Amino acid sequence: MNILILGSGGREHALAWAVKQNPKCDRLIVAPGNAGMAAIAECASLDINDGAAVVEFADAQSVDFVIIGPEAPLAAGVGDALRAAGIKCFGPSAAAAQLEASKAFTKEVCDACGAPTAGYARFTELAPALDYVKAQGAPIVIKADGLAAGKGVVVAMTIEDALAAVEDMLGGAFGEAGAEVVIEEFMEGEEASFFILSDGKNILPVGTAQDHKRAYDGDEGPNTGGMGAYSPAPIVDDAVVAKALSEIVQPTVDEMARRGTPYQGVLYAGFMIKDGQPRLVEYNVRFGDPECQVLMMRLGAQALDLLLACAEERLDTAQVNWANDHALTVVMAAKGYPGSYEKGSRISGLDALSEDSKNMVFHAGTGLRDDHIVATGGRVLNVTARGSSLAEAQARAYEMIDAIDWPEGFCRRDIGWRALG
Ligand code: AMP
Ligand code: GLY
Repeated sequence: MNILILGSGGREHALAWAVKQNPKCDRLIVAPGNAGMAAIAECASLDINDGAAVVEFADAQSVDFVIIGPEAPLAAGVGDALRAAGIKCFGPSAAAAQLEASKAFTKEVCDACGAPTAGYARFTELAPALDYVKAQGAPIVIKADGLAAGKGVVVAMTIEDALAAVEDMLGGAFGEAGAEVVIEEFMEGEEASFFILSDGKNILPVGTAQDHKRAYDGDEGPNTGGMGAYSPAPIVDDAVVAKALSEIVQPTVDEMARRGTPYQGVLYAGFMIKDGQPRLVEYNVRFGDPECQVLMMRLGAQALDLLLACAEERLDTAQVNWANDHALTVVMAAKGYPGSYEKGSRISGLDALSEDSKNMVFHAGTGLRDDHIVATGGRVLNVTARGSSLAEAQARAYEMIDAIDWPEGFCRRDIGWRALG
């Protein structure tokens, strides 16, 4: 079959790598892709947020299956446009993508289905929001309702920070996304991410992971899109999995179906776990980046069968064949990220690395200039390894990192610390 993957990050390179290994994949196109994906697929230039353009391209190229990587095209209804044109696709409708695009919507769904989550209130007016914060006290969490590129959440440890965040958001710092704020109870515990496929009715868990959001070692420095991840997450034991699925995920999927907006795609659920009880922090409607890299490393070629079963509404008959192993990915970013950084620096040493089912460098912001790989973004490479233990995967990933010559880049040296102790 002919397969089109939309996106250009490490997540999409990992999806492309897994899909390409499956014999069902005859032709693989990525749009827009990056230098890493160009080595295994055809790259097409296409406005991936324009549903009509994606449909036209998919038709012209006889694409049988489209995998949508990032949230923007999902929220823009690219999945709806494809399905309306009779093209199979992986990723939810715009209506179902509200689970990520609106925090207030997600809270409402949790209320309707009884899923455990933080207590909350919603505000569009400044004065009552400030009064609410003063009455609740700190710590407290302030969230812009809409998509704010991961920056719309302030975990305020003091009342002053909380009041300033409310003023910022309702004052227009996030534009439309901040026209409404959700003010939430601060939940204590350890956080983990859980990835579950849903075909609208049936669910199938495809792995757990933990991310490292801060830029520097020891979880210091500014928040980023994620500096490294590993899978599985040891905090998520079988009892937590069972509770999360029966109390949170399945009720959410049932509620979305009841509303006439069934959820089809991957649910990336963030849970706060305390005393063995998971509570929902948030849903995303796509794979995490870099969490996807470790999931794909562990799933390999079967990932395509699972995504197809999801799109064809037959997850009840699908199953995951787990290897009893661990994967870990370290993000190499341009110095300065997540602030401003230089583009165009050369990266050497990649050709000498052996890449196979246990060792892979997934590209994010890379391009090709004069036959040389150059950095074109903030997060640039995802150096990923698999091992029979997490320690082995970690050691292997850092061995690869040490063989890469990129003076303008940096990475954290402690990915996996929480699980390795
Ligand atoms: P979100 O974008 O909703 O994932 O929030 C970003 C981060 O803020 C989460 O990954 C948590 O670490 C933290 N966070 C969000 N909501 C809460 C909450 N109610 N209690 C504690 N931490 C939270
Ligand atoms: N790694 C966090 C995210 O993909 O949202």
